[in-house]
Amino acid sequence: MNSPEKGESLSAVTVLGVVGAGAMGQGIAQVAVTGGIRTLLYDVSSEAAEAGAATIASRLRRLVEKNKMESAEAEAAIARLSVAGALEDLTPCEAVVEAIVENIDVKRRVFRDLEAVVSPACLLASNTSSIPIASIASACEHRGRIAGLHFFNPVPLMRLVEVIRPVEATDATIATLIALGRQMGRTPVEVKDSPGFLVNMGGRAMTTEGIRILHESVATPEQVDAVMRDCYGFRMGPFELMDLTGIDVNYPVSVFVWEGYGNDPRITTYPEHRALLDAGLYGRKSGRGWFDYAEGAQKPSPDFVTDAAPAKTVALAEPNPVLESFVVAAGLTVVPDDGTIALLAAPVGLDATSTALRTGADSRRLVCLDLIGRTDRRVVVMTAPGADHGLRDAVAAALTSETRAVTVIKDSPGFIGQRVTAAICNLGCSIAETGLAAPEDIDMALELGLNYPAGPMRLGEQVGAGTMLTILTALQSLTGEDRYRPTMWLSRRARLGLPLKTAA
Ligand code: NAI
Repeated sequence: MNSPEKGESLSAVTVLGVVGAGAMGQGIAQVAVTGGIRTLLYDVSSEAAEAGAATIASRLRRLVEKNKMESAEAEAAIARLSVAGALEDLTPCEAVVEAIVENIDVKRRVFRDLEAVVSPACLLASNTSSIPIASIASACEHRGRIAGLHFFNPVPLMRLVEVIRPVEATDATIATLIALGRQMGRTPVEVKDSPGFLVNMGGRAMTTEGIRILHESVATPEQVDAVMRDCYGFRMGPFELMDLTGIDVNYPVSVFVWEGYGNDPRITTYPEHRALLDAGLYGRKSGRGWFDYAEGAQKPSPDFVTDAAPAKTVALAEPNPVLESFVVAAGLTVVPDDGTIALLAAPVGLDATSTALRTGADSRRLVCLDLIGRTDRRVVVMTAPGADHGLRDAVAAALTSETRAVTVIKDSPGFIGQRVTAAICNLGCSIAETGLAAPEDIDMALELGLNYPAGPMRLGEQVGAGTMLTILTALQSLTGEDRYRPTMWLSRRARLGLPLKTAA
């Protein structure tokens, strides 16, 4: 076994201790034994430890029944697992992962107790999702060997593991834990010890910007979700995702991360979120959250439905070849403005009001389309206050087809998708800028940890870094809010025409 001191060579962990046999401890022990590591599972409740070991064995045997694992392989993994009756039994361990109750005092006590039974070279890692690793390590004597190993639930299905580096951890400790993560079949990413680490921090952008759009009465939760799915390929929009993880989990995490970053307005959440928590509407688990899951409850449609006759002719508020080919492909004819027909524009970062003022178009007849992101399945339409809804509805009807829905929203700088993707990209760039994690790891973590179709940097490249900067600059200027301030990381690379992952 390696020593955690800097510079010494590494060797694989062969005996692992797992403290805490709950949901996470079981998963961690399972991937350890299937990764070929002898594992000792300890819990303060010996029944919990026994039950945990039995659950792991039955899960592995079920994988054999489903032909997902060879029987010999499963039995060998099961044979590598044993229950530790006392903490002292963890003495032979080369590394211990703690996954007990999320309580700092209890964790510090367990780490101190562990130091008394394992060798000074044994690595000690916590699976905490919110406690600073340094505050656990500060209770210990040999702090260079202490770090975080943050798995995701359910562990066997979630490939990501965050390796959390507190200030005092040695390079060898981090390198060994990265190797341990790989031994366990996970994809490790190294992250600085920071509030929410990487995934819980990076994930704040999509959810809070979704809520912000709702807060401004721009769109409904189902409209926001539909845009993120249909125009950007997300498996779930922010509201469905929050209902799945549970408002009782994501509201406190939002507040915790926001406070940890000095109340950064970029990750603030809004009263609508708290209101659900106060009402006990936690999402799927309680039967209602942003959406109603009661038997027979109908989710409102995000699609605009109108009896209006489809428009046949439109004019453009300003020359725009991309917009022109889009509307022509949809069957509309572009003609010179006759003073009565709809005037179309495709603003980037601006709302309809500013677009009318910028182009000199009649704001009552201006209909704005969002052409950023995919438009083959859904297109978003917005107008300025006081607009002629008859003209808007006729355009919406013309753009609706068997394969494409239209979502009509209130005036918004950056519609829905531009705002949400710019928020995701900007926060990812902020994570890169502060050196919390490497750019490649930021993308990988959000793709594996949150199922994003593309991480913040990749998403930014897909939309275009320059477009992202334009959207954020316009949002910041129109709202006057620091929430939308572009990071220097994004701004520099966009202005220099460099990929967003370009190192500093
Ligand atoms: P759990 O409540 O399912 O299991 C905790 C286990 O720890 C219980 O079996 C309990 O008997 C045992 N325990 C409590 N105090 C102990 C002590 N002093 N010594 C030994 N065992 C003790 O909790 P869960 O969900 O497995 O979470 C464990 C840790 O993992 C927490 O720090 C949590 O924040 C973190 N985590 C949880 C995730 C989740 O989705 N559940 C995801 C990522 C991290």
